[in-house]
Order: sequence, then structure tokens, then C-alpha cells
Amino acid sequence: MKKIIIAIDGYSSTGKSTVAKQLARALGYVYVDTGAMYRAVTLFAMRNQFIGEDFFQKEKLIESLADVQLNFHFNAEKGFAEMYLNGENVEQEIRTMEVSNFVSQVATIPEVRKKQVQQQHELGKEKGIVMDGRDIGTVVFPNAELKLFMTASAQTRAQRRFEELQQKGENVTFDEVLQNVKSRDQIDTSRKDSPLIKAKDAVVIDNSEMSLDEQFEKILSLAKNSIEKA
Ligand code: DC
Repeated sequence: MKKIIIAIDGYSSTGKSTVAKQLARALGYVYVDTGAMYRAVTLFAMRNQFIGEDFFQKEKLIESLADVQLNFHFNAEKGFAEMYLNGENVEQEIRTMEVSNFVSQVATIPEVRKKQVQQQHELGKEKGIVMDGRDIGTVVFPNAELKLFMTASAQTRAQRRFEELQQKGENVTFDEVLQNVKSRDQIDTSRKDSPLIKAKDAVVIDNSEMSLDEQFEKILSLAKNSIEKA
């Protein structure tokens, strides 16, 4: 059977990665979380004091990009690939609120994007891939056989994210999370390079009122259709 590329874009905390992982498992495809790549570059920038509460030394980050090596390694126990920054597993650390607060700014830099997109092309060249992010159907794989655009209300998304962070023991308030969701939406949709927009041929999935099972059934059937047509 022919392998295809499935591009999943959408707002933050719309459950893109949950559905992408489910789909990859069901189809025997590789899942690539491109947000993790931007998060790992952000962690690198934070550790090197290129970005902080009131400063962002973009030039220094750009100059140091050659020192950033990103890799995914499959964790059989967890059933998905984890993010490694220069050989270190940073899967946990890139999910903190601190990284979330800075990542959209880092993702506005064209040099950062160019490097990530090159690696994403490489990862997808054999097809058989489910990739999620903000620009996958528009910039990275504009010819992807199936494109999904996920959305849900900001309140719903903040609630989901808040519960996730609480489970991990992070000390945050709902309002902080809601502000973070809204400010990332704003930066992601208004940046000059590869803003978050729906590709013309993407199928919109609004999951504000959908259960995970309903959503998965719908998306799996879209994927099977696209595979048959390919
Ligand atoms: O999907 P996520 O929330 O982990 O993504 C983190 C940030 O990275 C998000 O605010 C926007 C940015 N991003 C991007 O600009 N392009 C992508 N393809 C993926 C993520």
C-alpha cells in the first residue's frame, strides 16, 4: 500500500500530538512532533542565556545554531520518539511552562525555521509520516496527501493544558495558562515567516465538543481514504 504524508497543523493545545500519535500507531507510520524541535532550540537558548524574562539576543542564537543538534529516538515503552538536544534526552524539560513562554518568540526567527524545515524534509522523505506543527501543510509539505487543521476554543485548550501541567506538579494558575495560550496564538498567527494559517485544502477539525474517540474515528477514516486514493 502506498505511504502518504499526513500534515496536522493548528493552534496550541488542540490535541494535535495526541491524535498524531494515535494515527501513527494505527497506520504503522512515524510520528514527528515539530513543536518539540522549536522547544528544544528554545531550551538551548535559555541555557545559554540568549533569552530570558526581559532580553532576547537573537543574533547570538543565530550564530550558535550550528551547535544545536536535534534527534528523535524512539522509546518503545512510551510508544513514541523522544526529543534529544545534543545527545541529551530533553523530552520532559521542553514541556515546562518556562519553555512554553519563550518558544513562540524563538519560532519567529527565519534562520531557526529554515534549519528545522530542512531536517523535517529529511525526516519525511520516505513518506509514511504523521507530522504536526503550525506550518506543515502550508510550508513544510504543501503537497501532503492529507492535511488537517485542528482548532478549539481558547478556554477549552487552556483547561486541558492546565490539567496536564497540574498532573506534572507544575505550580501554575489557570489564568497564566490561558494568557500563554492566547499570547502564543497571537504570535504564531501574526509572525512574518510561516504564520499559522489553514492550508486551503486542509480539513478543519474543531474538537471543542468532540470526545477523543470520536475525533480519532473521524481522522482515521480520512487517513484511510487518502491512502486509498494515493
Ligand atoms: O506544538 P507546540 O505547542 O509544542 O509548539 C511550540 C511552539 O513552537 C508554538 O508556539 C509555535 C512553534 N511551532 C512553530 O512555529 N512551527 C511548528 N511547525 C511547530 C511549532
